[in-house]
Parts: sequence; structure tokens; C-alpha cells
Amino acid sequence: MYRKFLIAGNWKMNNSISESVSLIESINKKISDVRNVDVLVCPSFVSLSEVHKNIGRSLIMLGAQNMYPEAKGAFTGEVSYPMLRDCGVSYVILGHSERRELFKESNEFINKKVLVALNNNLRPILCIGESEAERERGETFDVLDKELKECLRDVPADQMKNLVIAYEPIWAIGTGKTATPQIAQEVHSHIRKTLEGLFDHNVADATRILYGGSMKASNAEELLKQPDIDGGLIGGASLQSTEFCQIIETANKLA
Ligand code: PGA
Repeated sequence: MYRKFLIAGNWKMNNSISESVSLIESINKKISDVRNVDVLVCPSFVSLSEVHKNIGRSLIMLGAQNMYPEAKGAFTGEVSYPMLRDCGVSYVILGHSERRELFKESNEFINKKVLVALNNNLRPILCIGESEAERERGETFDVLDKELKECLRDVPADQMKNLVIAYEPIWAIGTGKTATPQIAQEVHSHIRKTLEGLFDHNVADATRILYGGSMKASNAEELLKQPDIDGGLIGGASLQSTEFCQIIETANKLA
């Protein structure tokens, strides 16, 4: 099964509006020839509209970093899916480990967001991953299976084509420690088996599974060469256009 690479930049809480515009302009210029890779940038909420305007006619897609699972109402400080769609957003990162840890998001709440996003034409990038302590205790697969089962509850098999999984080992996020290509491949292949159990072989085979956690230009090739790694969710290295575009070029070459 051919799965097109997706290279996604998670800008987190970085960049003013003007910095975001400069970054997207610079990315746009550098990758105008890239055709074999889907490229996504996820700026902060306040920069979404301006980044969208400056994506212009390029093939770069726009994502948000979070979403509240209601259309509107008394939810002070939150952003709804119609607001995101209004800004030109097509993907939304859900269940990032920073949100799970700092904002106490549960699998149940993330599941609600996943269902609402899918029902409203937003493609979720569902993040899962184990902590260092869980890995050391040998619980990695159990943790991931629980996250998958609970966050994907009630998702119809025919909607899975609109969803992307991101495996982000918490110990590798922003730490400079990357999972070795072998560790990442082992986990990605396990995730695919779990998806087969939850859905079926076709869904498991077609679902894109991204790796995230200190991915950068220097380690992208080894990671992206693994048969079950279908792209990257990139934090730190997505804030510099040269670094981010080198990863995209690498994926384009391997595709
Ligand atoms: P990192 O972040 O690339 O800076 O490790 C990845 C992420 O949190 O999505």
C-alpha cells in the first residue's frame, strides 16, 4: 500500500504573526518543486488567518494545534471547529502529550474531539506516546494500545482515511533524544497491528503513522526509510525553514 508522506510542523506557542508570515513565505519559496509529499504547518491560533493568506497557491496545508469539541458557546478561552474551518484549517493536532500532561486532557476528552473533528471535516492528527518511566517499566505497548482504543472509540472504519496517528515518545519530545529508527519502526509496526485489531487490515495498512520527537534534517532519512513511518510531526526543527525544508526534501526523495 502506498502511503504518501506527511511532513507536519508543530510551531507550538512560538512566533508572532509577522514571524509566522516570514516563516511560511520562506518555506513556500524553498519547496515550490516538491510534489510527492504532503506538507502541513500548525501555527498558533492567532497566526492562522495570516498564514493561510500567505500560503497562496502553494500546496501547503494548514493545521491547528488544538480544538474544543463544541461549535460555540460559553467556553471562555477555547476555539471551536467552525472557527478553525473559517481560518482555512484542514488538520487539527489532538491529544498532544503537552496537552495531556499540562492541561490534564484524558483519552475520553480526546476521543470526543476526534469524533467532532471527523464529523466536521477536520482531519485529526491523534498523538500517542509513552513516558520514559513507562518505557523503562516495559509498558510502552500497553500504554499505546489503551490510548488508541480509548481515543478511537466509535470512530467508523470509513472515517479512518481522514485521520493520522502521530507516535511521539514523550522522552524524545524537545529533548534532543530521538527514538532510534529501529525502536520507532518496532512501535509503528505494533500500532499498525493494533489498528488491525480495532478496525481491519485495510484500515491498518492505509493509515498514516507519523513519528515525532526531535526529528530533524540529520536524522529524518533514517527514520523515514522505515517501512511503517509515513512522515513526521516536527516541533523545534519546524521553526527554521532551512531545517524543515530539508526534511521535506528528504521525504520527497524517498517517496
Ligand atoms: P520536537 O517536538 O520535534 O521539538 O521534539 C515534536 C512535537 O512535540 O510534536
